[in-house]
Amino acid sequence: MARVPARLQFRVQLRFVTEEQLFGAGPLSLPTPKSLQLDVHPAGEEADATVTDADGVCVFKCLLNRDTECCRVGKESILITLGYSSALLKFESPADLSSFSNTLKRCRNEKKESSVFSQRTEEASAVQYFQFYGCISQQQNMMQDFVRTATYHRAILQNHTDFRDKVVLDVGCGSGILSFFAVQAGARRVYAVEASSVAQYAELLVKNNHLSDKIIVVPGKIEDISLPEAVDVIISEPMGYMLFNERMLESYLHSKKWLKANGMMFPTFGDIHLAPFSDEQLYMEHYSRANFWYQQCFYGVNLSSLRGAAVDEYFRQPIVDTFDFRILMARTVKYTVNFMDSEEADLHRVEIPFVFQLTQSGLVHGLAFWFDVAFVGSLVTVWLSTAPTEPLTHWYQVRCLLHTPLFAKEGETLSGKVLFVANRRQSYDIQIVALINQTGFRSGNILDLKNPFFRFA
Ligand SMILES: C[S@@+](CC[C@H](N)C(=O)[O-])C[C@H]1O[C@@H](n2cnc3c(N)ncnc32)[C@H](O)[C@@H]1O
Repeated sequence: MARVPARLQFRVQLRFVTEEQLFGAGPLSLPTPKSLQLDVHPAGEEADATVTDADGVCVFKCLLNRDTECCRVGKESILITLGYSSALLKFESPADLSSFSNTLKRCRNEKKESSVFSQRTEEASAVQYFQFYGCISQQQNMMQDFVRTATYHRAILQNHTDFRDKVVLDVGCGSGILSFFAVQAGARRVYAVEASSVAQYAELLVKNNHLSDKIIVVPGKIEDISLPEAVDVIISEPMGYMLFNERMLESYLHSKKWLKANGMMFPTFGDIHLAPFSDEQLYMEHYSRANFWYQQCFYGVNLSSLRGAAVDEYFRQPIVDTFDFRILMARTVKYTVNFMDSEEADLHRVEIPFVFQLTQSGLVHGLAFWFDVAFVGSLVTVWLSTAPTEPLTHWYQVRCLLHTPLFAKEGETLSGKVLFVANRRQSYDIQIVALINQTGFRSGNILDLKNPFFRFA
């Protein structure tokens, strides 16, 4: 179950109402309520909600858990029923109500069955994934990728007219850095949604930067939370290795349920590029690593029966590193995902057919991949590229080896396809088939994007 977020505080008005009062013929004749303080303290999977007056005297207390009976009333109120009486809590803003409702939903374990995210994700994978992003050091690592962060900053600030006085949604806000950029560009309000525990640090940064009136941190998964209003712009950094790893693009596409009809997406589309490469050293390195298992007397033990399995395992690993672009043997083939038009299901199975005209003779050892994303604003289009010809980013480039290298001559064609099939480990199984048309030589491989080999020094 998702964790209940850190302690929350709200200003509320409180009225106790009975069924008779709610359904009585006459109007509710109750004294005008004063502003009180509501404190929500997490306690495991539940939370205590306590309302106190100006003297600190408790005037209402209840436990928020799966048995809590409640319903929303209008835009800013919620009715909590305890036995025969009910407490009507009116919040200061729809955003406050939304933040309280999200906590309540978690305590009530709502949506667990139906969440798009939980349906497509193994629990163990999600726990590990959000623990990773809960670390300040991981957020720092991304923030310190200068190409990445500076390009987002530029894309947002140079398109300030798209943000001025607008309502923005930041999907997976992490530290909240992109939300701050949106406010710098003039956003009226930003909903900063984050599923990992780093949400509480984002909240702290927001408070310390005196932006609590503009940035509302919403702890929870984008698939589970609710917002009090539709948004004009969605910003996010959902790209993983090879663009698709982590399957966060699907969460980004899912968030469009909150986007107004003429709303904008930053980034707007992504291009994945692929090209054949020749790299004998890389290929031999993989075999050499597997050759450990060739030994027939390792401390007196014959390991050789596992050598085949070791080769298979190493070859299933996409290699994350960078390279000199001159190893590429053809112009790239490009596949575009338009975030404005695409739906989550479009990313469950992505098939990329290719025909490469080889520009040099030699052994094709595999396919190299990288991606670019574009921020199409009203004023400028800004590109973030992870190409081998551009400054290096923390995404590097990714190479997939073929089981058997293919010999080909300049001018011949290499055709085939790459198939990405999404799995429940927030990643993809990759299948490559390749053929030299003129000779009929064939090769291929099946790889596991969840388990890449990090080769960079
Ligand atoms: C690549 S990081 C980007 C963080 C931040 N936006 C930045 O640019 O520095 C992605 C963030 O999205 C969060 N995330 C991933 N999937 C999510 C989901 N379905 N709902 C909410 N947050 C999610 C992760 O926990 C992580 O902090």
